[in-house]
Amino acid sequence: MKTVLVIGASRGIGLEFVRQHVAAGDKVFATHRTEDDRIKLRDMGANTLKLDVMNVSDIAGLAWQLDGEKMDVAIVNAGVYGPRTSTVLQSPTDEEFDNVMRTNVLAIMRLVPIVAPLLEPARGTLAFISSKMGSISNAWASYGMLYRTSKVALNMVAKLAHTDFSARGVRVLTLHPGWVRTDMGGPNAEIDVKESIDGMRRVIADDTNFASGGFYDFRGASIDW
Ligand SMILES: NC(=O)c1ccc[n+]([C@@H]2O[C@H](COP(=O)([O-])OP(=O)(O)OC[C@H]3O[C@@H](n4cnc5c(N)ncnc54)[C@H](OP(=O)(O)O)[C@@H]3O)[C@@H](O)[C@H]2O)c1
Repeated sequence: MKTVLVIGASRGIGLEFVRQHVAAGDKVFATHRTEDDRIKLRDMGANTLKLDVMNVSDIAGLAWQLDGEKMDVAIVNAGVYGPRTSTVLQSPTDEEFDNVMRTNVLAIMRLVPIVAPLLEPARGTLAFISSKMGSISNAWASYGMLYRTSKVALNMVAKLAHTDFSARGVRVLTLHPGWVRTDMGGPNAEIDVKESIDGMRRVIADDTNFASGGFYDFRGASIDW
């Protein structure tokens, strides 16, 4: 039995990670923002933790609630897309910028020093759910500019977490889940959550082929930064 933490577990990709890990018999900690989601996750068999990643006292609360837990896997999944209209021709408002960058970047910077040490005792894996849209090498169009920019920054945070924590036994992965049918991915996306999470769990479980510091998609292909 592994101990697994899923940050941003209420729906979509995070919820499917919870479903699969509970089904595998793992001890799962799952974060939520609403009471309805707490009940849903509890009824699925997860240990629930209230966390709005924008709220510093929630992040501090996470630290003491998980104090002493030895995590095998932590999945940092919470994220927002922001305005669908963002391109190089249409810049975001202050409010749009703050919402996306605080959720996808600042919150992750604040979570790393809380979550990464929990993985040290079991030499576990810290997996950041990023996106191929955050690959500068693969940037062929400017739609989703704000989201892409936030995921580029997330990728740097993940790489820096690798530089500091791999020496302390923590394996750090940056993952692209594919284009997935969720609220964010929309109904026309290429794959369902089961295929995405089946694939990412295979990558997370295979520390021989998928080394710390890498950027991989759900099929295990390496992605250029
Ligand atoms: N779907 C895709 O095609 C795709 C592709 C590439 C990467 N991704 C990435 O995969 C991750 C999950 O995406 P998804 O498709 O599952 O999106 P989703 O269905 O929109 O779900 C987003 C999740 O993030 C949580 N979240 C957002 N803001 C939060 C906050 N301030 N505090 C705590 N939790 C917060 C949401 O919680 P609430 O329910 O409380 O809002 C929800 O659990 C994201 O990081 C996304 O960028 C998705």
